[in-house]
Amino acid sequence: MTVVAIVPAAGKGRRMGADKALLDLAGTTAIERIARALLAAGIDELLVVRSHGAAPLPQLPIAHRVVLVSGDGDMADSLRAAERELPSSCATVVVLPVDHALVEADTIAAVVAMAQRDGAAIARPTFRGKPGHPVALRRAAFAAIQRDGVVLRDVVRQDRDRVRDVPTSNAWTIADLDEPKDLEGARAALCAEPGSVVETMLRHRSHRAYAPTPLHQGQLERIVDAARHASTSSFIQAYAVISVEDAERRRKVAALCADQKHIADAPVFVAVCADLHKIAECCRAAGQVVQSQSLELFLQATVDAALLGQNLALAAESEGLGICMIGAARNRPIELAELLALPKHCYVVFGMTIGTPTDDPAPRGRMPLAGVLHREVYDSRGIDAVLAGADAGMKEWARRCNERGGYQGRPVSLDKGWTDRMAQMWGERSSYAAARAALLDELRRLGFGLS
Ligand SMILES: Cc1cc2nc3c(=O)[nH]c(=O)nc-3n(C[C@H](O)[C@H](O)[C@H](O)COP(=O)(O)O)c2cc1C
Repeated sequence: MTVVAIVPAAGKGRRMGADKALLDLAGTTAIERIARALLAAGIDELLVVRSHGAAPLPQLPIAHRVVLVSGDGDMADSLRAAERELPSSCATVVVLPVDHALVEADTIAAVVAMAQRDGAAIARPTFRGKPGHPVALRRAAFAAIQRDGVVLRDVVRQDRDRVRDVPTSNAWTIADLDEPKDLEGARAALCAEPGSVVETMLRHRSHRAYAPTPLHQGQLERIVDAARHASTSSFIQAYAVISVEDAERRRKVAALCADQKHIADAPVFVAVCADLHKIAECCRAAGQVVQSQSLELFLQATVDAALLGQNLALAAESEGLGICMIGAARNRPIELAELLALPKHCYVVFGMTIGTPTDDPAPRGRMPLAGVLHREVYDSRGIDAVLAGADAGMKEWARRCNERGGYQGRPVSLDKGWTDRMAQMWGERSSYAAARAALLDELRRLGFGLS
């Protein structure tokens, strides 16, 4: 059973003064942006409704067909024409007017998952309580569009009991690209212009295969220097970075970090440390004792190290390198500290492989933004939809991984969503918690006297 998206794009765009499908949205056309989001959301096929004589579409990264209509591009006419073209395998339809070209893949995946739930037939995103697009409909529900004089709004209204709302944080679900001022707003919102910091951040993926090519002369110094310009609690700069480039030492690090092959393969492994050694020296010189038993100081140093580490990842990625953070550096923290000759009051918060990537991992996406960004107060009313979106995203990632030969060579279960995995990872039978049961004691032995 397939999911087919219908993008009505037959209007003349009179108020916009341009064909909306071909609007330039920060370097890509509206229809290409939509096609990419649909692909990322796991949609099988796209039907683009165009008027006779409309300009041809650019190449799209998803299986698609053009459905031609006459007249002025009336939305209901477009949907009727597309409905007649749906393949027999189609079980769910997603209607995404070209005006909503800034809608994200996670919103599409979430409405599809919601429409397919038991008891549901139609799902739509809401922004601050207002319903918008895309609307996902089971095929049988969508067929009502063929009735005389019926528009999409009527189809939704007539099926009220089976309509489900998916709250989102994306204002573009309710805002149209209608006039030139809307286009300006859209371009400003898409500050992820090619080469921008935001684009680099959105393109992030963890890389787990590397060429042996070393970093350029001075590159490590530059990116670590940039990274340490992150904010630091009360200017304590309670971090240290140990770079390991020696192949034999990297092999030993890998052995202490769950034998992860990418640690041995990448030209550089860095240990990102929380470091109170320098502050302990300041205290000693002043005839005092560093308060290393303080949970607050432990958190400050750990947060400082994490901020530096993420900055380092971003700096590396901005120079075309790939990274993978290594939490397994906390598997055997004492032996790792010995291998790296860490002084007292210093522990590796996480490691990071850095180098020229040779893999092309499926992007993992993230849960729907509504689960992360709340306005004014935490709003957990949409949690079901958020978790449904997270599950759909995870399953889509699994599908794409398997297309590429699995995750690190192993097939990924298509049945398990994010919710199952989190419950398994951190529920009462957590093997993760069990594996780190000694961590508190190990941190104490490294000079963090947490009580
Ligand atoms: C603190 C931290 C520790 C991590 N540890 C490991 C690790 O030991 N091995 C690994 O392969 N990936 C590790 N990762 C990478 C995560 O698995 C990855 O970031 C996450 O699955 C999201 O995928 P993405 O980074 O490709 O978007 C770690 C990430 C973080 C932030």
